[in-house]
Amino acid sequence: MDQTGLVILLLLGLYQDRTAWKWSLDNTYVYGDDGNIAYGDWFVFQINHYSSSQVCGKVTGGNLSDLPCEHQLNSVCYDEPNNKYIPVTVPMTWSSAQSYCREKYTDLTSMRTQQEKEEILKVTDESSWWIGVDRKLWNWPDRSISSLALWTTGDPNGGASELCVVSYLGGWADVDCGLSQIKLLKIELKSDASLDLNDPSVHEDLLNHMEKHMRGHGIHQKFTLRWRKPPSRKVDEKEVEPLL
Ligand SMILES: *[C@@H]1O[C@H](CO)[C@@H](O)[C@H](O)[C@H]1NC(C)=O
Repeated sequence: MDQTGLVILLLLGLYQDRTAWKWSLDNTYVYGDDGNIAYGDWFVFQINHYSSSQVCGKVTGGNLSDLPCEHQLNSVCYDEPNNKYIPVTVPMTWSSAQSYCREKYTDLTSMRTQQEKEEILKVTDESSWWIGVDRKLWNWPDRSISSLALWTTGDPNGGASELCVVSYLGGWADVDCGLSQIKLLKIELKSDASLDLNDPSVHEDLLNHMEKHMRGHGIHQKFTLRWRKPPSRKVDEKEVEPLL
């Protein structure tokens, strides 16, 4: 078994929460804590699902849409003490625009009410302007924002179709999440010719090896390992009891 290389992928809890948009002015969720939007017809938010570590909100003719935050756009600041909306016609990244507004006024403006939208429309033209709303791309299930990033080279690469994360060779990769919380996804077997993959004792060895690997990854709950052999799809299962 020395020549056998195993690649084991474990699904982590990290995922893309597409409703995790936040207003920077008061740090509340655009879609509320329960993910349900609370605005009327006046609120148009067209989300294009850009793949970037952070996506930000711009208004164009009063309609909100998303854009990777490193784009350079004009922006609209809000001056809370004077209740004024200030157009800034110096193209900047969203973060620079936010720093600028926070330094000179209060923050980038929000667009939480129809009134705020009308004020924004008064000071902007039909081009695109940053306002104070953004979303970090990857979230943990408790909605905390993670700065931990162990992406493998080339990841994340899935764009809109890969919204979950697996641990892969000690690093992370984004994958499709039609898979439950922690699940063994894929094993690539490289073996020398002497390994008989039809031998039940080899199956047993591999399942034991995977079990150790998963326990070594800190997986303490109960899990099921399946040995599936195409094309017959015959299954050998091993259920592993939880660690107490
Ligand atoms: C804003 O969105 C509405 C509804 O989708 C659309 O009819 C309108 O043309 C948009 N306006 C601009 C300036 O994009």
